[in-house]
Amino acid sequence: MAPLGRRPQSKIQNHMSILSADKLTKNFGGLMAVGNLSFELEKGEILALIGPNGAGKTTVFNCLSGFLTPDEGDVMFEEKLLAGLQPFQICQLGMARTFQIVKPFPTISVLDNVMVGALSREKSTAEAKRRSLEIIEFTGLSGMLSKEAQGLPLPLRKRLELARALATQPKVLLLDEVMAGLNPTEVDELIALLKEINRQGVSILLIEHVMRGVMALSQRVIVISYGVKIAEGTPAEVVENKEVIEAYLGKEFLSAQGQ
Ligand SMILES: Nc1ncnc2c1ncn2[C@@H]1O[C@H](COP(=O)(O)OP(=O)(O)OP(=O)(O)O)[C@@H](O)[C@H]1O
Ligand SMILES: [Mg+2]
Repeated sequence: MAPLGRRPQSKIQNHMSILSADKLTKNFGGLMAVGNLSFELEKGEILALIGPNGAGKTTVFNCLSGFLTPDEGDVMFEEKLLAGLQPFQICQLGMARTFQIVKPFPTISVLDNVMVGALSREKSTAEAKRRSLEIIEFTGLSGMLSKEAQGLPLPLRKRLELARALATQPKVLLLDEVMAGLNPTEVDELIALLKEINRQGVSILLIEHVMRGVMALSQRVIVISYGVKIAEGTPAEVVENKEVIEAYLGKEFLSAQGQ
C-alpha cells in the first residue's frame, strides 16, 4: 500500500521525455516539408528518424535546433518551450546537432574546431583545451590533432563533427546521417562509439539511411514520408510494416533480411 498522504503520480510527473515535438509543421512555399509531426524522445533513449530522401528529416532537425522557425507546433526541451530561441541558446540548454553536410571550420586545426564547441560552455581556455583533448581521444582523432579540418578524409570529418557537438556537453544529440559514406568497419566503430556516448547518459535522435546502424542502435524508430509520420515502433516492427517497405525500404530490404 502507498503510504498515507501520497497521491498516485500524475501522467505529467511520470513523463520522462527530454525532447518533444508537438504538431510540428514547416512549409517551403507550396511544399509541406514537415506536416503535423509529433514525437517524444525519452530520457536516455536512442530514437531513429528515417524516411526517403526529401522526406523532411533534416527540416525536423532544423526546427528542433532553432535553425528554422516552424510554421506551427511546439518543441519542448526539458519542459521548456523553445519557441523564439536562437541555435546558440538551444545549444546552451544542452541540445547539440551535427550537420548532414559536415560544417567544420575548414582552415583551423582539429583541436581548435573542438575547442570552439568546448568554449560554448567552458570559460577557461585551459579547461576547454583539456576537455577537447579528452573528446578528441574518445572519438579517435588523436593522431589528427593539429591537421586542418579540410584535410581530413570524410570518415574523420564525420567524427570531428561528432566531437564538436560532444564538446558542448549535450544532454541530447541530434545526429544527421553520421554514417553516410562510411565503410562497414567504420560503421561498426561508430555504432560502438555512439553506444558508449548513450551509456554515459546522452539521449540521441538519429537520422540515418544506414539501416544496420538504425537496427543496432535505436530502441524506437519513427518513419516519415512527405513530411508525415507513417509508422512508429521498435526497429523490428517498423521494418515489417508494409507502408514503410513501400515508401522507403523496398522489397529488397526484406529479402536481404532473409524474409
Ligand atoms: N530551405 C529550403 N527551402 C526550400 N525547400 C527546402 C529547404 N530545405 C528543404 N527543402 C525541401 O524540403 C523537403 C524536405 O527536405 P529535407 O532536407 O528535410 O529532407 P531529408 O529527409 O533530410 O532528405 P535527405 O534524406 O535527402 O537528407 C525537400 O523537398 C527539400 O527539397
Ligand atoms: Mg537530410
